[in-house]
Amino acid sequence: MGGSTQALLEYHERSKHRVDRYAPGPAGLDWATQPDPFRVFQGSPRIALPLAADTLSASYNDLRRGALPPAQRFSLRTLAILLELSLGLSAWKSYGTQRWALRCNPSSGNLHPTEGYLLCPVLPGISGGVYHYLSRDHVLEQRAAVDDPRWPEAFPGSGILVGLSSIHWREAWKYGMRAWRYCQHDCGHAIAAVSYAAAALGWQTRLMAAAADDDLAALLGLDRGEDFGVAEREVPDVLLWIGNPEAPPDLERMRLALGKAHWYGQANRLSAGHESWPDIDAIHRATHKPLTRELIPLNPAPHPWPAMPALDLSFARIARQRRSATGFDGRARISAAAFYTMLASLLVRRDTPPWNALMHPVAVHPALLVHRVDELEPGLYVLVRDAAALPGLRQAMRPEWLWQRTGPDDLPLYLLLPYDLRAVARLICCHQDIAADSFFALGMLADFEIALKQPWRYRHLFWECGVLGQVLYLEAEAAGERATGIGCFFDDEMHALLGITARAWQSLYHFTVGSAMVDQRLSTSAPYEVQP
Ligand SMILES: Cc1cc2nc3c(=O)[nH]c(=O)nc-3n(C[C@H](O)[C@H](O)[C@H](O)COP(=O)(O)O)c2cc1C
Repeated sequence: MGGSTQALLEYHERSKHRVDRYAPGPAGLDWATQPDPFRVFQGSPRIALPLAADTLSASYNDLRRGALPPAQRFSLRTLAILLELSLGLSAWKSYGTQRWALRCNPSSGNLHPTEGYLLCPVLPGISGGVYHYLSRDHVLEQRAAVDDPRWPEAFPGSGILVGLSSIHWREAWKYGMRAWRYCQHDCGHAIAAVSYAAAALGWQTRLMAAAADDDLAALLGLDRGEDFGVAEREVPDVLLWIGNPEAPPDLERMRLALGKAHWYGQANRLSAGHESWPDIDAIHRATHKPLTRELIPLNPAPHPWPAMPALDLSFARIARQRRSATGFDGRARISAAAFYTMLASLLVRRDTPPWNALMHPVAVHPALLVHRVDELEPGLYVLVRDAAALPGLRQAMRPEWLWQRTGPDDLPLYLLLPYDLRAVARLICCHQDIAADSFFALGMLADFEIALKQPWRYRHLFWECGVLGQVLYLEAEAAGERATGIGCFFDDEMHALLGITARAWQSLYHFTVGSAMVDQRLSTSAPYEVQP
């Protein structure tokens, strides 16, 4: 076993929450060092973005059924819409003297470790270069101005790149060593959020799966120590190509062109003090990605389109109204048809958001704890998202499970055990009532052999989970209901329920969907002040 694999396994085991012992975390919350949720590059030129998302008419249902509108032209205006509906603010909330922003992309503890970047050639309203998106003000901060002919040449087809990075400290401040996992989940949610918003503008998204982390860091300016000084560093996650999938950009050429670029801005310091988490540094090193070969895009087995959801809303509306429930009522039920539609939406479809962003074959399968779905027995179910995984999943679990096909013929859903699992769901999700009060809760089983063979793909497994989570968030809104991501769960309790004893399948993220109770004590205000 290689050193990276060993380090990965150690992190994975040590970052598990256990019933008798949570993963190592801070002794308490140190409010004096609470990180600033907004990164600012002080001194960089700012480009104000228009608030134009209301002009976008694309319906959510069309996007999830692969019916993208005609591609809009890339311009400052359309890029503003892309960013507003993916990484932009969706509301301000307040309670007493406290005020905090929510965003279209969710985040564990609302701590938002994910930062967004734009790399573009010269386009109407914007010069070519590298930009950081500051969601608080809906502005682009110019990080690099590039005046080198190789830069436009590196974008052969029409398109732009969105880069994502993480600031581990933002999550570690509250969650300690498990925080690295949450940064990956959040990145997955952000990938999906970008893919959906791009699709609403008629654009395809592809993850640049071959690129090395060092190249990403150079392209996003994250390796520029002088621009960060004492400020918390960002680590590169992913580059997303948004544009013609047949003509991807030449990253090497871009890197060369950046050699003579002029860089602007000094990163702000987010916290006055830091607690170090060596386990996070270790897993970051162990999952460092080298340059790998180009991948052939996914060509999944065809699945029928999911049925129409209860509400036919515009994508812009769904993206901005997406919220996490903080509690479910524990009484309401969902129809079987609505439940099957949500599950059908989790199957990969070619050129359809958010799956178009992912380049690797399916590696994650939800195990569902169903409580309140009409016509369905409460119990344990598995949605096998790729038929090829069925023998391995069956073999890894308790031999006495039923594996009885349930629901529509074209939905690969299996009943394992009819049983009331509400108390079990609550226990598994760190005693959170929300898991028992939901229509259903689920854990996402990932093919762990993938991470053991290629340690950097450990990150991809979490990203795939985050993508699945974003689908559930949007599907819940379209059904007139609500969802909540669950990062706090007792990993091995879920495995014990399923009868998983080997490491081959690991539950990496949990989720709940239900009928939300609204917290009336909170006030809500608009995400951005619109100038008259
Ligand atoms: C990776 C992840 C893990 C989360 N874990 C939990 C959890 O264990 N319990 C919970 O009540 N909410 C959880 N949430 C919900 C977040 O608290 C919520 O997304 C955040 O407060 C922002 O609110 P919003 O989703 O309404 O924008 C999680 C969200 C994410 C993305």
